[in-house]
Amino acid sequence: MTEPQLADLNDLDVFVDGVPHDTFTYWREHDPVHWTDEPGGRGYWSLFDYESVTTANRDAATFSSEEGGTLIRDLEPEALEMNRMIMLNMDPPKHTRYRLLVSKGFSPKHIRELERAIDDQATKIVDNVIEQGTADFVTDLAAELPLQVIADIMGVPQEDRHKLFDWSNRMIGSEDPEYMEQNGGDAGFQGAESAQMELFAYASALAQDRLANPRDDVISAIVHAEIDGDRLTEMEVNVFFLLLAVAGNETTRNLTAHGMQALFEHPDQRAWLMEDIDGRLNSAIEEMLRWGVPVLNFRRTVMKDVVLGGKEIPAGDKVALWYMSANRDAKVFADPFKFDLARTPNDHVTFGGRGPHFCLGANLARAELRAIFREILTRMPDMQPTAPPQRLRSNFINGIKHQPVEFSPGRRVLRG
Ligand code: HEM
Repeated sequence: MTEPQLADLNDLDVFVDGVPHDTFTYWREHDPVHWTDEPGGRGYWSLFDYESVTTANRDAATFSSEEGGTLIRDLEPEALEMNRMIMLNMDPPKHTRYRLLVSKGFSPKHIRELERAIDDQATKIVDNVIEQGTADFVTDLAAELPLQVIADIMGVPQEDRHKLFDWSNRMIGSEDPEYMEQNGGDAGFQGAESAQMELFAYASALAQDRLANPRDDVISAIVHAEIDGDRLTEMEVNVFFLLLAVAGNETTRNLTAHGMQALFEHPDQRAWLMEDIDGRLNSAIEEMLRWGVPVLNFRRTVMKDVVLGGKEIPAGDKVALWYMSANRDAKVFADPFKFDLARTPNDHVTFGGRGPHFCLGANLARAELRAIFREILTRMPDMQPTAPPQRLRSNFINGIKHQPVEFSPGRRVLRG
């Protein structure tokens, strides 16, 4: 089997240029469960097809999130221990107990109650730039709604929401030159640590306040909750805060940016959506989700010898679930490289391939995406990019940092 020019998936610079779809497609078709060497690491199995990604995602007993965490890179014991306090990196039944503490805040019923407020927030976000005629699509439009909404849900005052934005950029983007500079020049784990410490100090202060003055927000629920008769420790509260702050804003922001990008690149699809925004938006958003995939991968550690995709994988090995690749699997999605806003069925794995860790914020993300796209498409119908997007240097988050755009200026609709 001759290999075409294949990208090294460990090389972060590859992802600055774009998603290496040719490489994903090659491995998906030739060796969907593929051994991948890792410079400085012990290597891992890359899962590229839908079948193996969903199998690993559903079987938490065999494919553990807790054993080695969910990042491909192996962590030092101390860092791993802290990571395991985050429910994303726990296995059932422990995971189930922690997830229950916060799941009420993200239920379909609760999200329906928030929808009016989310719609109003989207209107204000567009109001803030509509008279200018130009904007940075990412920081002015895509980033704001997820940030405002997660701040409200968690109990963070709105005037502090940009702190969440900065901390999560500096942690997630710790290998990107723009955020490395904000981290005082330190790359990787070391750089991310300063942002993490600031976030923890903030979370601790907020938790102290809510212990004394409980409110109807998630941080109050967490500080007053008990697991097996005990309150959560300060560190457990801090990492809960970290998970929600990062998961609730990086992902939806990037999906909004990728969704708009895809509309720029497919004017026929954009025109089709514009003909009936209300009637077609839900299916359009599902296709944007299949297409954009903000979280490129999560890792699992194999707990017992297993055969996956015909490969014998011994206990202890790690696997990377490449969600972006699974979403382009021609065995599941007809004509997978066609951006088709009317696609049905569309059972993408962008929120995970089912299983216990399926994205807690999926309903919330969909409500935010509906609100912001309805506003943008209706009130800025001729928006166009004025420069190429600037991508994040990461093989974990498929990120767009900046996207300059222009549009015909319009009027604000809300006062203030
Ligand atoms: C387009 C937006 C989003 C995408 C693409 C996304 C993607 C994901 C993925 C892939 C997972 C892991 C699933 C698995 O391993 O099975 C996940 C988990 C999670 N997501 Fe999201 N997410 C999004 C929005 C949100 C939002 C708005 C929140 C709000 C706080 C959120 C909170 C979480 C949490 C807390 C988890 C961990 C769940 C657990 O461990 O049980 N996500 N998300």
